[in-house]
Amino acid sequence: MKWLSSFQRISQFVRNRHLISSFLENQELFHESEEESLWGSVTDREEEALKRLVQRAALHPGPIIEIGTLFGLTTQLIASAKEPTRKLITVDNYSWNPFALSPKHHLKFTHRALRTCKHLCNVEIFDGDNVTFYSQYQGERPSMIFIDAQHTYEGVSIDLNWAVERNIPVICGHDYSLRWPGVMRAVDECFTGKIRLYESLWSHFEPSDTRAERHEVAEAFTSHPA
Ligand SMILES: C[S@@+](CC[C@H](N)C(=O)[O-])C[C@H]1O[C@@H](n2cnc3c(N)ncnc32)[C@H](O)[C@@H]1O
Repeated sequence: MKWLSSFQRISQFVRNRHLISSFLENQELFHESEEESLWGSVTDREEEALKRLVQRAALHPGPIIEIGTLFGLTTQLIASAKEPTRKLITVDNYSWNPFALSPKHHLKFTHRALRTCKHLCNVEIFDGDNVTFYSQYQGERPSMIFIDAQHTYEGVSIDLNWAVERNIPVICGHDYSLRWPGVMRAVDECFTGKIRLYESLWSHFEPSDTRAERHEVAEAFTSHPA
């Protein structure tokens, strides 16, 4: 009967070959670019810049929106940097993850990972795509949006248009890099070079003219060449 179980294993592999090949592709990608990001999330240095953007958003009322939760790593970071009462809504349709989990397991894992944040830090998870979220959103103007879901020109443009139409004070996102030309093009077209870059974390906001801010910007961000 040993041959039967071997046969079952082989057919299981064949049935799940798309998951296995995407898992292997991601292993290769993220092992090669360990310096750049942690399994699709941000680098340690980008985390610092993201925290500062959350502090900047605190100058304005309104919730923080994150488009692209994955497993909640940046969600937890934002939640820990914001005031406890400020709402953070994170949006994901579970269409991609680096470990080739099915959407159902991805959702379950992420909800469990964010359980404490949901209970203690006013974090809400929207299970659905960005377009559905935008069409249903009726809340007040957000103070900040962090865009890190689709990485195509068309996808990012949808997020940017929504954010700009609502005049969101702090608009930022991840993966402004040659690996993602669609992100660069959409961001460049939208802000015509008026962004700050910290590694691949980009942001757009009107700076207040305080000395501290000028110092912080000079220290933390390399100006984007127009
Ligand atoms: C790069 S990951 C997000 C990483 C996360 N911000 C972090 O740094 O830990 C992109 C996420 O966006 C989600 N996603 C892709 N397209 C989407 C869409 N149209 N609407 C909502 N979520 C989407 C994927 O399921 C994936 O979880």
